[in-house]
Amino acid sequence: MGRLAGKVAIVTGAASGIGAASVELFVQEGAQVLAVDRPESAIATAHASKKDIVSIAADITGDDAPKKIVAAALDAFGGLDILFNNAGVSGRAFVEEMTDAQWDHVNGVNVRGMFRLCREAIPALKARAKEKGRARIVNTASVMAFDTDYGLAAYCASKAGVGGLTRTLALELGKFNITANYVCPGAIYTGMTQGSFDKPEIREVWEKKAALRRLGQPIDIARGALLLASDDADFITGHELVVDGGLTLRT
Ligand SMILES: NC(=O)c1ccc[n+]([C@@H]2O[C@H](COP(=O)([O-])OP(=O)(O)OC[C@H]3O[C@@H](n4cnc5c(N)ncnc54)[C@H](O)[C@@H]3O)[C@@H](O)[C@H]2O)c1
Repeated sequence: MGRLAGKVAIVTGAASGIGAASVELFVQEGAQVLAVDRPESAIATAHASKKDIVSIAADITGDDAPKKIVAAALDAFGGLDILFNNAGVSGRAFVEEMTDAQWDHVNGVNVRGMFRLCREAIPALKARAKEKGRARIVNTASVMAFDTDYGLAAYCASKAGVGGLTRTLALELGKFNITANYVCPGAIYTGMTQGSFDKPEIREVWEKKAALRRLGQPIDIARGALLLASDDADFITGHELVVDGGLTLRT
């Protein structure tokens, strides 16, 4: 039996990279999945006509998006066990030159959008946890939640924010048997990073930095998210799971 047999999950950022791999893995493990991504993404085709996947085009920052997304999961599958908040954006600018719009875009998607979807999903997660004994929130942060690089002030602040949000969710929701944890990917080859990692000189630097001497693939992070979403993680909450191949082991 699959590790997510009988579960219903929402996965955001589902058209590409880590989100797309997680949708596939969760379904292989027995879940039914609402796959969410922006209308401009490949969400209409990424998981088209696959069993146990319903796709919805929605920008998570839209005013009514959380309501629409949670309602779509409940309509399609009749409940919600797992919310995997994975949608995210990056962008580089030195603080001295960063515009309000750049700061707000990154933090608006990565933290505010995540918070609003969590808030909307909590009643459905509580109902499921009451009925079945558990429910899950899994959020995607980054090693940039605790590290940094030039030009990444907005991104680092947003990912540290994901940590703070998730730990507080864990505290507030524990008594309802809802866990909340976050994954911190290292350098992963996805839509967000392929422009850089397709350049051999950049790829080699990042491969060499990791103890395991390779870039991560989306499936590496999907497996971490699966662990936190599964029943195996019953006593794990408020935890930061670093999945980086040893990238951040040394200074
Ligand atoms: N790739 C890496 O090296 C890396 C490292 C650390 C953390 N992360 C995080 O992993 C997560 C997934 O990113 P990825 O690397 O798979 O990149 P990706 O660009 O391949 O996928 C991100 C997806 O999120 C979607 N998205 C962006 N804004 C959205 C919005 N407002 N509403 C709905 N969907 C939206 C995009 O359309 C895209 O399909 C992000 O939170 C990212 O910050 C990635």
